[in-house]
Amino acid sequence: MHVVVISGSRNPDGQTGQAVKAMVEGIQASGATAEIHELPKLKIERCRQCEDDGWGICRSEGKCIIKDDLAALVEKIKASDAVVVATPVYFSDLSESLKAFLDRLRRTCVNESGRESIEAKPVIGICVAGGGGGGAPACTEHLDHTLRTCGFDVVDLIPVRRQNLLLKLEIIRMSARSIAG
Ligand SMILES: Cc1cc2nc3c(=O)[nH]c(=O)nc-3n(C[C@H](O)[C@H](O)[C@H](O)COP(=O)(O)O)c2cc1C
Repeated sequence: MHVVVISGSRNPDGQTGQAVKAMVEGIQASGATAEIHELPKLKIERCRQCEDDGWGICRSEGKCIIKDDLAALVEKIKASDAVVVATPVYFSDLSESLKAFLDRLRRTCVNESGRESIEAKPVIGICVAGGGGGGAPACTEHLDHTLRTCGFDVVDLIPVRRQNLLLKLEIIRMSARSIAG
């Protein structure tokens, strides 16, 4: 059992980073393995909306025309048994790096070949509101909708706010069992 953990934070020691570490601890405690990918450190452009109708080869071929780090990460997701997606909450929404990644992934999933090995794959989403603490539920809803559009089986969604971070780290460790147990 191998889990790909994707983080939309650039700070491995920040609050989202702590949530990611708690999830990896839970995954490993269940006897599974995990690898972390920090999106801000990868080269993932935003969608170019290639053609006048708004589509591109994402719809016809299930892949993206842009040659950057997207394709390799998608292959890792497809080869994994489960996925975790964690993001800091920005403006009650996903971080820009995660938004750019999921915007392009969901387009490729419109095509049958793009959706292959993503359809029904278990995923857990974590949204960490580390400022005032508001916006985690709204961010979680956006993440849920986008992951479902890709075809993932969303098995858990964990909104976290600065004020309940320590409690939620325990919950995250336990939640790992639902994908890695
Ligand atoms: C552009 C921006 C927007 C933010 N919007 C929110 C917000 O809506 N609600 C909130 O609680 N925190 C907000 N924050 C604070 C982040 O959630 C907090 O910095 C983040 O959880 C900590 O980053 P890290 O987890 O990557 O360390 C915002 C931060 C930035 C940079």
